[in-house]
Amino acid sequence: MTKRLENKVAIVTGANSGIGLATAKLFAAEGAHVYITGRRKEQLDAAVADIGGSVTAVNADSTKMEDLDRLFAQVKADHGRLDAIVVNAGGGSVLPLGQITEEQVDDTFGRNVKAVIFTVQKALPLLNKGSSVVLIGSTTSIEGTEAFSVYSASKAAVRNLARSWALDLKGKGVRVNVLSPGPTRTPGLVELVGDDKNAQQGFLDALASTIPLGRVGEPEEIAKAALFLASDDSSFVNGVELFADGGKAQV
Ligand SMILES: NC(=O)c1ccc[n+]([C@@H]2O[C@H](COP(=O)([O-])OP(=O)(O)OC[C@H]3O[C@@H](n4cnc5c(N)ncnc54)[C@H](OP(=O)(O)O)[C@@H]3O)[C@@H](O)[C@H]2O)c1
Repeated sequence: MTKRLENKVAIVTGANSGIGLATAKLFAAEGAHVYITGRRKEQLDAAVADIGGSVTAVNADSTKMEDLDRLFAQVKADHGRLDAIVVNAGGGSVLPLGQITEEQVDDTFGRNVKAVIFTVQKALPLLNKGSSVVLIGSTTSIEGTEAFSVYSASKAAVRNLARSWALDLKGKGVRVNVLSPGPTRTPGLVELVGDDKNAQQGFLDALASTIPLGRVGEPEEIAKAALFLASDDSSFVNGVELFADGGKAQV
């Protein structure tokens, strides 16, 4: 059977951990040449070994313009084009209204909004007809979550970027969609409650009870949805928010 990303060039940002790592692995297995990014060099090297296949790591912080320029310059020099980009790098922290800090807002909106805008804008010259942009959103884009307003607002912004960019890209043949995971078992999720393993398990159990499927998601399940949106299987899907959330935000 033909691989679904055979001969495609893809970037997954923030791919040394969690959802990004699982997505890069799947894309490589489906025949893509995958570029992965992240700020932590050691984890990035470990990810390259883990992914195997055709993968190039670029140690880049998505909030830094010069790092993004270096990433796209390398892809341009190597391939001259980009077929799919999963803008996944991001994260957040927990603080209730009354304790929100300027630092938290700058970090969250820097990584989840500003970095997303400039990652896609700088990718644009490499994106041809038929290419796909996948922005990683979150169920928090449409739900309220206690002590998680700053992160949630940043993901609501991501959702609108896709709507508006679908118009900006009109006629170019470039699709842009949001993939919004529900709670998914990743280092980024469990570390929201610190590094105590019991506290992390209790947190996952509490989240599972809010999900109609009765469990949290696994990174590999989100990766499969990303593959759908990145590949030609979704050739007429544009501007949507696809939820992979076990039903959490759908009921
Ligand atoms: N897990 C969930 O339940 C869940 C649910 C909904 C949405 N999401 C979203 O899914 C995405 C991945 O999250 P995850 O749960 O897989 O978290 P994770 O395990 O913490 O992975 C986050 C990845 O992003 C990278 N990253 C963070 N800031 C970056 C920056 N400024 N520049 C480049 N890379 C950066 C991290 O690498 P470095 O730290 O080395 O840079 C890491 O590879 C995020 O956008 C998150 O908001 C997650």
